[in-house]
Amino acid sequence: MLEVRELVKEYRPVAGESVRAVDEVSLSVGAGELVALYGPSGSGKTTLLELIAGVQRPDQGAVLVDGQEVAALDQRGLDRYRLFTLGIVPQSLRLVDGPTALDLAALRLTEQGLSWKAAHQRAMPLLERLGLRARADHQAGELSKGERQRVAIAMALSTQPRLVLADEPTGNLDTRRGQDVLSLLAEYSAEQGASLLLVTHDPQATHYAHRTLALHDGRLDASKAAPADPVPGPAS
Ligand SMILES: Nc1ncnc2c1ncn2[C@@H]1O[C@H](COP(=O)(O)OP(=O)(O)OP(=O)(O)O)[C@@H](O)[C@H]1O
Ligand SMILES: [Mg+2]
Repeated sequence: MLEVRELVKEYRPVAGESVRAVDEVSLSVGAGELVALYGPSGSGKTTLLELIAGVQRPDQGAVLVDGQEVAALDQRGLDRYRLFTLGIVPQSLRLVDGPTALDLAALRLTEQGLSWKAAHQRAMPLLERLGLRARADHQAGELSKGERQRVAIAMALSTQPRLVLADEPTGNLDTRRGQDVLSLLAEYSAEQGASLLLVTHDPQATHYAHRTLALHDGRLDASKAAPADPVPGPAS
């Protein structure tokens, strides 16, 4: 489903040396597969996700989603790719005040053309599954960091995307909530046959992943790509 081929991205700051944030990375994530990507801060994880999402263009290499090269899409194609194929859980969520948690969870469904009412009806069970039932009518500004992160997950999954890119989705959550979110993501990819690439520092994540990859200074570390339990589920 997702295939990343020898991807290279260099940042050239105004002052100082250029940084090879992503350095010849190749990986693939199949349908129904959950792949965890570990790496220390600054190792290029967010840059890699942004290249896959088409937010940034690679200097070399290619991102293929169902055989379609992302960098070859025009703006309209990119918009459709992001709205219909992708679900993105960003590392930090900038939420504007005004809309409620439920409005936000329903937002992308309305962008897809669903009525406000139908979108809200579809988004509510997802919020409930994320433990946000009591927060559905609260404005984003009234939510804790962890609650906002769960709203971001609801936004990403609401449209039933075939490819989910999650950047530290458990970063602001305690162990218990982190486990809930990881098992929800694992269930989601298994149920929907969706490909899930999970960027994380959370050691719990490996128990939910089919495979775990490690990124260091923009390069995949083959020796750390240990096969994990083939059946995702919490560790005992
Ligand atoms: N816009 C930018 N301009 C210049 N350098 C950048 C830019 N964005 C990221 N970098 C550099 O590229 C490297 C990779 O950054 P990236 O944000 O992808 O890392 P990360 O693994 O997501 O880190 P973290 O775990 O802290 O989120 C870092 O050295 C960073 O300083
Ligand atoms: Mg990052």
